[in-house]
Amino acid sequence: MNFEFQNPTKIIFGAGSLVQLGEVVSEYGKKAMIVIGGGSVKRTGVFDKAVESLKAEGVHYVECADVEPNPRITSVVRGAQIAKDEKCDVIIALGGGSTMDAAKVIGAAAFYDGNPWNMILHGQEAIYVPTKTLPVITVPTLAATGSEANCGAVITNDDTKIKSFIQNPLLFPKVAIVDPELTVSVPQDHTAYGVCDIITHVMEGYFNGVDGTPIQDRFAEGVIINAIEYGRKAVVDGNDLEARGLVQWASIVALNGWVQAGVHMLAPMHMIEHALSAHHDLTHGAGLAIIGPAWMRFAARHRPERFAQFAQRVFNLSPKGKDALTLGMEGIEAYEAFLREIGCPTKLTEVGIGDELFEQYAKDAALVVRDEEGRLLGRPPMTTKDIVEVLKSAL
Ligand SMILES: [Fe+2]
Repeated sequence: MNFEFQNPTKIIFGAGSLVQLGEVVSEYGKKAMIVIGGGSVKRTGVFDKAVESLKAEGVHYVECADVEPNPRITSVVRGAQIAKDEKCDVIIALGGGSTMDAAKVIGAAAFYDGNPWNMILHGQEAIYVPTKTLPVITVPTLAATGSEANCGAVITNDDTKIKSFIQNPLLFPKVAIVDPELTVSVPQDHTAYGVCDIITHVMEGYFNGVDGTPIQDRFAEGVIINAIEYGRKAVVDGNDLEARGLVQWASIVALNGWVQAGVHMLAPMHMIEHALSAHHDLTHGAGLAIIGPAWMRFAARHRPERFAQFAQRVFNLSPKGKDALTLGMEGIEAYEAFLREIGCPTKLTEVGIGDELFEQYAKDAALVVRDEEGRLLGRPPMTTKDIVEVLKSAL
């Protein structure tokens, strides 16, 4: 496919790079708003180090704390008000995907007097497309969403239980300070969920993209193979800085647009997971570990050769004496076994979700990215009946 690719986010990568925060931020102003989550950055001392670096460069700061996992639009409204009241020049997102996503939308909402939910896609289109934003500096403390260096953000509406997204070049962070030392305190379970998120970002394009993308296929397989190898190490030993660094780099390249260039990525696994986590506040990566293998078994029947390629190249499974679908299914088994090995749930019942709301999730999943017939876009496109079938197989 023809494509355009541009990613303007400057990446400062390496252990200890947090000390550069003040210098980087001071290029954008002297008053910053620091967006954080529930306070783990304060318990680990990361917040104090960040503040120290800001102070050394004469940068003042205010806080926007308590941004939830699965960030709510109400937090965006609150953050934008702080940014306006305090006349902030620049926003620092210090945390995981939720703080970074919230910070990006807060930046745009600071220049918009309407309801920021108008910027989020719901029912195919957004009511308002932002034209201006505050500069955002991301400092990820978790390797997962890739939000640190892309222009997307996922937000949940508390009232309607819809979780949807915005993608706009305006939302590219100016700089991502990516310091693997900040991720060593991430507990095993969230490290594992992050690894699953990284792998799924790459899989969405790999399984749902167009044919004839051999270079992108190899990039994708390389990211998955490394995320498996070093993700496994990071889960076993959280202090393994090499593994932490490689997983963090994988999280960036998995969703900074490069692997997806020319692929025409669609993301049905994400859309189904978003519907679940909007209702149950499930950790995104854990939800993907459940939906991923279930969706793959459904999709493999429609595109067995692609799943056979995955099995062979990622898991070194032998094709001898097997048809493509059998080999593809073995690859999915191997992937699911890896997810279980690192401690991810792979069934809905493990996270306390039953079948009561399956029709609702299916309807919500197909709400945002759908074709003329109302099917969730992917390869293949999915009717709500298909989505329910996948959910049932994940029980
Ligand atoms: Fe994701």
